[in-house]
Amino acid sequence: MSSNDKSLVASGKILRTDTPQAFREAAEAAACRLRQGEAVVLPTETVYGLAANALDPLAVANIYQIKGRPSRNPLIVHVCSLEMARDCAGEWPEVATKLACAFWPGPLTMVVAKSKIIPNVVTAGGATVGLRWPDHPMFVAVLKACGFPLAAPSANRSNQVSPTAAEHVVRSLGDRCPMVVDGGNCNVGIESTVVDVSGDQLRVLRPGMIQVQAMETVLGRKIIADQRDEPRGDEEASGALRSPGLLEIHYAPKAVLWLGRWQSELSLREAWEKCGPAQGKVAVIAHHILPVGFERVSVLPHDPEAYARGMYAEWHRCDELGYEFILLELPPNTPEWGGIHDRLKRAARGMLLFER
Ligand code: TXA
Ligand code: MG
Repeated sequence: MSSNDKSLVASGKILRTDTPQAFREAAEAAACRLRQGEAVVLPTETVYGLAANALDPLAVANIYQIKGRPSRNPLIVHVCSLEMARDCAGEWPEVATKLACAFWPGPLTMVVAKSKIIPNVVTAGGATVGLRWPDHPMFVAVLKACGFPLAAPSANRSNQVSPTAAEHVVRSLGDRCPMVVDGGNCNVGIESTVVDVSGDQLRVLRPGMIQVQAMETVLGRKIIADQRDEPRGDEEASGALRSPGLLEIHYAPKAVLWLGRWQSELSLREAWEKCGPAQGKVAVIAHHILPVGFERVSVLPHDPEAYARGMYAEWHRCDELGYEFILLELPPNTPEWGGIHDRLKRAARGMLLFER
């Protein structure tokens, strides 16, 4: 924690939760503000959320304002029981019960038809609502103390990287930042899997750490995994820069993110000199083959769960240290890495390609 962050604790802006008493007091203080229609930042197991009373349109409007979020992007509503979820849903299909039994509380959001109690501002005017029962003791304690569901997007300015620690939130939201309850580092580290169960076809809208295959196994039926924004590798010459702007940039660090999978330090150096930027501070985030000679080289772990837990935190660190470029070694392409690849594709602005 920086000295600035420590002073935020001292001023009461960040609430600590590391003793049973501090935990209880923080939960009560957060619930008290939420009852008054204010927004509060709470930890979840995926990323920190900017929460407000989902049943109060004015409270929810606060969220859009603090985030600078376009009002056409709907919010996820967080619950702490099946009963609360069903109250928010206009229709509750059998598959929702099955998925809830298997994966809740946890990093799964289900999109269902919304009930009348959910205001239009939550769903951006749409007829469906995303529901999630998060697996974090603080978030659940606050939900229980409030007794109403909480709308909560990730607690960052729109289009920035989601926060996985309290200090990331304060840095992203700046002066607009409301009270932050510090629940430590998020255990999952990327946003929840979003699955639409409102129609006949089940469809993954956002991959995450809960795998399509796991849900298909539970349900015994097929789920459509949308592969939007697939990288267009074929037509490009070796070493070419994939033109920026091909993908919708989202979840991106301030540093320009480049992706690549190198066979050796030498081939990396050659490709980087050929198509990387001429100058600027470069941080490498390696996975398998660690190059030397770059100013900063960090390593993320080999299993996808640990990788996801650390990925955004490493991007935040590079931004904080003022790196202009991040060159990230692509992890494997197997299904359990699907959620991670989705975020990489959305955040990247360059791709290093190599001769086979
Ligand atoms: O892990 C998470 O889901 C975190 C934590 C705080 O729970 N929340 C989160 O919220 O990532 P947000 O707002 O940053 O992303 C929500 C995503 C958006 O892409 C939104 O479009 C989609 O979920 N979404 C929400 N409601 C939806 C709906 N009714 N239909 C389709 N997509 C929806
Ligand atoms: Mg977000």
